[in-house]
Amino acid sequence: MTQDELKTLVGQAALAHVVPGEIVGVGTGSTVNKFIDALAGMRDRIPGAVSSSVASTERLRALGIRVFDANEVGELAVYIDGADEIDGRGCMVKGGGAALTREKIVAAQSRRFVCIADESKLVQALGRFPVPVEVIPMATAHLVRQFAALGGQATVRMQDGAPLVTDNGQHILDVAGLSIADPLAFESQVNQWPGVVTVGVFAHQKAAVCLLGTAAGVRTLDFGA
Ligand code: A5P
Repeated sequence: MTQDELKTLVGQAALAHVVPGEIVGVGTGSTVNKFIDALAGMRDRIPGAVSSSVASTERLRALGIRVFDANEVGELAVYIDGADEIDGRGCMVKGGGAALTREKIVAAQSRRFVCIADESKLVQALGRFPVPVEVIPMATAHLVRQFAALGGQATVRMQDGAPLVTDNGQHILDVAGLSIADPLAFESQVNQWPGVVTVGVFAHQKAAVCLLGTAAGVRTLDFGA
């Protein structure tokens, strides 16, 4: 199976985790796009969704799924999103699509995080994928030095020759060369640096379950959270 087919497989499998009658939290990315397409088939059984990005909002609306503002609703039963990396405990690196801040907000608002990913995303330890960090532009040079002190090489993510601007009007640093032995401690440490909006390590909002697309079908990793 191709990577695209594996994404379709887990996107469809995620429907089993959507609670009929409840608003669902929806992430961002190519895997989630497959989930959104599948969700259209059950749009009459849910009130709608809370979305983590402008891109997902547009896709949801185009398929006739109502999108609620996060402030309009209370706790969500489930949040479904992809990952750039996931380890054996359900901790993830996210933000390859630059939507990490809103993703972490909707994940925090939800009781369960269901991660959908193809098997290439499963890692022993986080950090092979450069860790995305959303930052206030004024703090960029200082934060590059902070990450260098941890052994990381941070670069500003570019788009069309200029720094990429997130849905929140901020920039992204991609930090390569980190070895993240303790994701919870790393997330807590970087979160408190002035100028950091969100670090793309999801250890406090880790996955409860991962639906992993493999050549043999969907493998369910239950992290007992
Ligand atoms: C978006 O900002 C990310 O957190 C995505 O969830 C992550 O990059 C996975 O994306 P794909 O499903 O496109 O690989």
